[in-house]
Amino acid sequence: MKAVILVGGFGTRLRPLTLDCPKPLVDFCNKPMMLHQIEALVAAGVKHIILAVSYMSDMLQEKLGSHADRLGIKLSFSHETTPMDTAGPLALARDLIKDGNDGKPFFVMNADVTADFPFKSMLEFHEKHGKEGTIVVTKVEEPSKYGVVVYDRESGLIDRFVEKPNVFVSNRINAGMYIFSEKMLDRIPNKPTSMEQYIFPQLTGEQQLHCLELDGFWMDVGQPKDYLTGMCLKLNSLRQNSPDELATGDGIEGNVLAHPSVKIGKGCRIGPNVVLGPGVVVEDGVRIKRSTVMDNSKVKAHAWMESTIVGWESTVGSWTRLENVTVLGKDVKVRDEMYLNGVRVLPHKTIKESVPEPGIIM
Ligand code: GDD
Ligand code: MG
Repeated sequence: MKAVILVGGFGTRLRPLTLDCPKPLVDFCNKPMMLHQIEALVAAGVKHIILAVSYMSDMLQEKLGSHADRLGIKLSFSHETTPMDTAGPLALARDLIKDGNDGKPFFVMNADVTADFPFKSMLEFHEKHGKEGTIVVTKVEEPSKYGVVVYDRESGLIDRFVEKPNVFVSNRINAGMYIFSEKMLDRIPNKPTSMEQYIFPQLTGEQQLHCLELDGFWMDVGQPKDYLTGMCLKLNSLRQNSPDELATGDGIEGNVLAHPSVKIGKGCRIGPNVVLGPGVVVEDGVRIKRSTVMDNSKVKAHAWMESTIVGWESTVGSWTRLENVTVLGKDVKVRDEMYLNGVRVLPHKTIKESVPEPGIIM
């Protein structure tokens, strides 16, 4: 089977991390975001993954090639010269999808969602109802920033699909994971086309789109606040399904994922809900909760951190306090005894003064 992952878009909502790295390669729970999806697709029998890309594709090729070899799959790139939106990329990749696929259905994914991926159940359900498309839906508190779905609870047949509605329609939303029959490709014109604004309403009107309700956690991790919520959900799922992957020992509280190379000093309290990447150094007396610290960053003695993402190769000074969805880009240095409250810091900056109000440091 084949799968297409939509990897375009500039990932602006995840800046400053996406200034150095395309969104799907940003580390999430110590793995590039998209690798979680690729591994789950492979586990469901996918042998060929097509990345529909429009931005920083060299870096994707370089970083994911070795993983494809390790997983024994073929990875192809479908390059867009102009962004083709969310359905247009399927028209561009039509031949890649069809060649050698024996008329079987294919998966399509948004690159920024994390979940208990239900690919096997999607395939079974799709084959059972026999229509052109199946999308996964999930329940959320704030549906307005997603595609909203109204459907028949028994058959899963979708009645209405409304992208980012202004008024309340339903609290069931499009989770960004689809499986389609080949026939559906005939609907997409060879130009930038939105799946959500154009193709889904069309399929819905012809009673060709069904949905499967997700059983398990889900989050679009394309914004810092949601990234942190998604991290907590993923760690909780690891606790239930593979607890051996989580850290244990003195000073570890609740769900903590720490790469084996991490060094933690004396008298620290780490957790709950913390991810520490490869080569991270945490000095003595540090307190970290609900945060991710990415590869090769250093947290100096007695720093205090909550709801913070520290990008790659950064340094957090001694007695510094970071909180309220503070995000440090790559190679940021925060001097000792600083206070940052809800601040986004662009790559390669040195912070020499506290920033007590939310804002962006350029
Ligand atoms: N190849 C390509 N080209 N990919 C694109 C392009 C493009 O021009 N534009 C966006 N994408 C990719 C993004 O990289 C992402 O993986 C996916 O398409 C969806 O784009 P987002 O920008 O993340 O959309 P969203 O989060 O606002 O909304 C989408 O996802 C929600 C679930 O997270 C919609 O599908 C909603 O209906 C859905 O609820
Ligand atoms: Mg998104």
